[in-house]
Amino acid sequence: MKEIQHYIREINDFPKKGVVYKDISPLLGNIEAMRLAVDKLIANLPHQNIDKVVGIESRGFFLATLLADRLNAGFVPIRKPGKLPYKTYQQKYDLEYGHDQLEIHQDAIQMGEKVLIHDDVLATGGTAEAAVKLVNRFDAAIVQLNFIIEIPFLNGREKIKKQQVFVLQD
Ligand code: PRP
Ligand code: MG
Repeated sequence: MKEIQHYIREINDFPKKGVVYKDISPLLGNIEAMRLAVDKLIANLPHQNIDKVVGIESRGFFLATLLADRLNAGFVPIRKPGKLPYKTYQQKYDLEYGHDQLEIHQDAIQMGEKVLIHDDVLATGGTAEAAVKLVNRFDAAIVQLNFIIEIPFLNGREKIKKQQVFVLQD
């Protein structure tokens, strides 16, 4: 079994010039690599008493559901605007390339629940920060944010410095 990094493909100038896109498709296409990634993310949680795993649309969804299964936790989607059908909380944010808004259902998390937030990439941290703000609308505890990949020079950790963070490549 090769290192996780072997399954992350870099695509230059996608989706626009100057951006190096971290493509997790090779990881998703290899069940052993995906299981290894999930194993490592689980092993690096402070504890496994998690009630909800929040996955961020769209690339955060893939491993978040696998993590939820392993943790015997529910899965909660944070989605792009206009996708969730019920009442939502909304949070605007800046992206490495452009800006957007994220939303969460208002009944997605219960008071006192322990929450894990997962996404594939931590870049500028704008997405993760917006996810933290959305989860903080509930009276719940964020146990950790975990990611497959970090782009350190973009300094995303600064935006979520009050949170516990684990990145698979650590
Ligand atoms: C990408 C990536 C992270 C986010 C990281 O998502 O999947 O969610 O950017 O960037 P940031 O730290 O600078 O906010 P994107 O919004 O491109 O959408 P996708 O997951 O649907 O491809
Ligand atoms: Mg994303």
